[in-house]
Amino acid sequence: MTTVGILTGGGDCPGLNAAIRGVVARVLCEPDGRVIGFRNGWAGLMQSDWTELDRDAVRGILTRGGTILGTSRMDPFVHGDGAVSVRRSFTETGIDSLVVIGGDGTLRAAGRLSDEGLPIIGIPKTIDNDIPGTDRTFGFDTAVQIATDAIDRLTTTAEAHNRVMLVEVMGRSQGWIALCAGMAGGADAILVPEFPQRLEDVAASLERRHARGARYSLVVVAEGIAPPEPVDLPRDAYGFARLGTVSYQVAPILEHLTGFETRVTILGHLQRGGTPTASDRILATRLGVVAAEAALAGKTGAFTALRGDEVVIAPLDEACGDPRPVDAGRYEVATRFFG
Ligand code: F6P
Repeated sequence: MTTVGILTGGGDCPGLNAAIRGVVARVLCEPDGRVIGFRNGWAGLMQSDWTELDRDAVRGILTRGGTILGTSRMDPFVHGDGAVSVRRSFTETGIDSLVVIGGDGTLRAAGRLSDEGLPIIGIPKTIDNDIPGTDRTFGFDTAVQIATDAIDRLTTTAEAHNRVMLVEVMGRSQGWIALCAGMAGGADAILVPEFPQRLEDVAASLERRHARGARYSLVVVAEGIAPPEPVDLPRDAYGFARLGTVSYQVAPILEHLTGFETRVTILGHLQRGGTPTASDRILATRLGVVAAEAALAGKTGAFTALRGDEVVIAPLDEACGDPRPVDAGRYEVATRFFG
């Protein structure tokens, strides 16, 4: 019997269930294959809280957002006893390999555990699209589509009222969602952490646009830009800062500088909920199947990466470095010629 464990950690994103389904479908093709799923991220592994993942368990989940396993930001090295409970759970459950589906924090913990000898394969996921070593993460395409739809809708009401609309999107310290949704929605300004702009310059560009006859402007704000006035952000149960308010500082400044009525919409968790796009379902399924094959082949300390259009197996530490920033070329295309 080859038993593979799975967990999903960190913030959820559309496509997690597709990845789980991919792992289960591939492992269960083996005559002696078995899959168990740990609930609520590392917490479930540390507490041996698991459920059998047979074909019935994954039927119909491809299209569902969220994760059937639940998730959390618990980190065994920060909130637990490091590898001790995790190792005990490996022994108790008899798993031969663990597939860890997660973002930066979850994959870093996976890397440390595999350094300590535990057989682990990582699958990167996040709407933020900022995992190094892979060209795209699943969840991102869905988030960009949702943000683009919102921009389209906000544009028509902005135009009707002759307003400036700020749309704040997620992405943590990187501006991928802002940049790509801004480009897809034809935003007039895009503020991302990687390329800070003076609000005076943003205001001047909006004024030029309105002087040329525009009746409205649409500004996309990444939640991770430096706030004009530093604030103590509230923290979640695991100590992570809760972003999602910087636009309330930016809007009055732009309104003051331009004299244009300025309103704010913060998209928040809408960007992470609901059904994944076809593109995210496809990527998550491919990563799930390849991760399962790696686990069945006895590989460890590796993760599934999208390189160009190929899914490859790469060393896990390549996914554990600094977050991948928006590139200058794409930023220039999105911002330099428009507005
Ligand atoms: O990392 C994914 C993400 O959605 C970020 O874009 C966002 O800042 C954060 O998670 C929100 O986390 P939570 O759901 O814990 O508020």
